Amino acid sequence: MLIDTHAHLDQPEFDDDRQAVVERALAAGVEQILAVAIDADSAEASVALAAQHATIHAAVGIQPNYCGQAAPGDWDRVLALVDRPKVVAIGETGLDRHWDYTPFDVQQDYFARHLTLARQRDLPFIVHTRESEADVLAMLREARERGPLCGVMHSFVGDAEVAAECVELGLFISFAGMVTFKKSQTLRDVAATIPDDRILVETDCPYLAPHPLRGKRNEPANVVHTAQVLAEVRGVEFEEFAATTTANARRLFGF
Ligand code: NI
Repeated sequence: MLIDTHAHLDQPEFDDDRQAVVERALAAGVEQILAVAIDADSAEASVALAAQHATIHAAVGIQPNYCGQAAPGDWDRVLALVDRPKVVAIGETGLDRHWDYTPFDVQQDYFARHLTLARQRDLPFIVHTRESEADVLAMLREARERGPLCGVMHSFVGDAEVAAECVELGLFISFAGMVTFKKSQTLRDVAATIPDDRILVETDCPYLAPHPLRGKRNEPANVVHTAQVLAEVRGVEFEEFAATTTANARRLFGF
C-alpha cells in the first residue's frame, strides 16, 4: 500500500469524477491521500474532502504563488481550519522565483508565518520551492535556530547537495512524477541518495503525471508509477519501498 502525500484534490480538474478518482486510488493500493491546499478556498475545500472520505487527510495553507492575491482575512480563514479534524499539516508554503504572481518579500512573509504556525501547533509543514532553493534553505536554517524542524520538501527536483542539507535540517524529501521522466536521470540519482527513513512519494496531481501518462491529468492512483521507478533506482522490491514510504508518511503526518 502507498500514500500519496501531495494531491490537489479540491481543484476543478476533479469536479466531474472526484468520487471515482478516490475509489481508483484505493483500488490501486493508495491507502491514504493528503489533500494539500493552495489558498483559503482550497483549504476549506480540502478539509471538507477529508471529512467526507476515510482515505483523505488535509493540509491547510496558502501556496506562494497565491499569496499575492490573498484577500485580507484569508490567513485568518486558514488559521481557523488548523484545529479541524484530520488536518495534519501546514501548507503548501515556500518560495517561487519562477512565476511572478507574488512579490518575493510577500512570499517570504507568508513562508515565515507558515513555519511559525507549524511550530506553534506541532504540525509538519509542506515546502514548495521553484528556482529559490538558496532562499528557502536560508529561511529553514533560521527557523531551525528556534527548534527542530518537521516537514517535507515536496516535488523535489534539487541536487544531491540540497537534498543532503534538507535531510540534515530534519526534513523529508518527496518525489513526484518528474522523477519518472526520461530526461530525469540526474534526479533519479539524487533519489537514490535519500536515507530510507526520509523519502516520500506524491503525485502533486492534477499536475505532473508520471511516465507513461505524462501530459494527461494526474490522479493519486498514478503514484504507483513513481514508486515503481524509485524502488528500481534504489535497488529494492516495490513492496519494500511502498512499506518504507508509507511508514515515513505515517510518522511525519501522524495518520
Ligand atoms: Ni502542490
